Amino acid sequence: MIVSVFGCGYLGAVHAAAMADLGHTVIGVDIDESKIEALSAGAATFFEPGLPDLLKSGIERGRLVFTTDIREAADADVHFIAVGTPQTPGSYAADLSYVRAALTAIAGIAKPGSLIVGKSTVPVGTAAELVEMLEDRAPDVSLAWNPEFLREGFAVKDTLEPDRLVYGVVAGDRGVRDAAALDAVYADALAAGTPRIITDLATAELVKVSANAFLATKISFINAVSEIAEVAGADITALADAIGHDARIGRKFLNAGVGFGGGCLPKDIRAFTARAEELGRGSSLAFLHEVDVINQRQRQRVVEHAVRLLGGSVNDRRIAILGVSFKPNSDDVRDSPALDVAVQLKGLGAHVIATDPEGIENACRRHPQLTYEPSVNDALVDADLVVLVTEWDEYRNLDPVETLKITRMNNIIDARNVLDPANWREKGWTYVGIGRP
Ligand code: UGA
Repeated sequence: MIVSVFGCGYLGAVHAAAMADLGHTVIGVDIDESKIEALSAGAATFFEPGLPDLLKSGIERGRLVFTTDIREAADADVHFIAVGTPQTPGSYAADLSYVRAALTAIAGIAKPGSLIVGKSTVPVGTAAELVEMLEDRAPDVSLAWNPEFLREGFAVKDTLEPDRLVYGVVAGDRGVRDAAALDAVYADALAAGTPRIITDLATAELVKVSANAFLATKISFINAVSEIAEVAGADITALADAIGHDARIGRKFLNAGVGFGGGCLPKDIRAFTARAEELGRGSSLAFLHEVDVINQRQRQRVVEHAVRLLGGSVNDRRIAILGVSFKPNSDDVRDSPALDVAVQLKGLGAHVIATDPEGIENACRRHPQLTYEPSVNDALVDADLVVLVTEWDEYRNLDPVETLKITRMNNIIDARNVLDPANWREKGWTYVGIGRP
């Protein structure tokens, strides 16, 4: 098939490369010339394992091109919308201006009988509004919603081998035809047995935000219990293991720590509450506000541990911050808990030296006031306190004996609960985890 992908950020670049890998002819479109230039050269503008190889192979096989000229996508059978829906400044609601602009642009060039497929995360009701826009502009073109569940760091695998496919389609014959077009796009995944759920547009939109809201709630649940564990002298990690064995609960996303960040979970739960308010059902999702509050409090807890460990003040103390990206295998620092902790400690007068295998460039752009060291050993030099905030493998595998030779003092906060407390204590460290005795 001929496929276009409008918006070549995280979601769009990965989707375009993956569609080419599946054998489709793909035109990636974006208004940002520097992005298009980089992608055309086979380089991603962000760190994602496996993506550069996928881009290069698509380009070399002649199946993948990137352009700023939407007219080059006029022959596409399916047009994906993969633009961002960031939080609106000063509000919890999602900013839909990029989605509307994408629809308008595609409607201007799409051939009759083609299909526009939304992948962006949008508030429920958005697709219905877009269908109306389309009726005015291009009545022969259809709209479907096909949410994406990829995780940063695993984006290529998640796109090529999704754990489910959800198609939101319009009613009647048109919806049946649109679902068949999506079946052709995802033929390989369907042949491999990937479950496919066909719904109406509103359900598909809600599936996506509900999934992210559930994951956020799960993390804040375990973090809230970790606060109790901390004062009661219990161990949240053992507790999570124990309740996680119950298949109804499951162990995944039950890791207590500094909490969730990134470009999705935080803004999605806020946009979900904003939409619920608009629909007159704000109280139904009021608990998501508490999920957000618990999550923000985790960052504060880490800062409080730091102050306590250093005897009541971090002023003029040297603190090594291990990790600035919002999670490992990503250079994304959007709403990063790690960076937030670093900034708060700096604000309290600490000399913060932050390190990260991939995220320093992005962090530096947002917070140039912090000191960054690319090498973990350089960051550790003479530290009064080490704070492990993003669980990259190289920090998980730090050797407590060697580390102690570099730092000035023996204080460590394991804000992701990934180190072995007994081992670190045995080697002379004052170890503090989150919700661990
Ligand atoms: C999330 C969802 O997991 C994807 O399914 C979804 O497609 C994506 O958002 C999106 O909407 O685009 P992602 O933002 O890449 O993916 O990150 P996650 O792996 O979900 O992690 C989110 C945050 O939760 C990270 O900061 C991570 O450190 C934190 N986390 C995760 C915890 O604090 N504890 C856990 O047990 C798990």
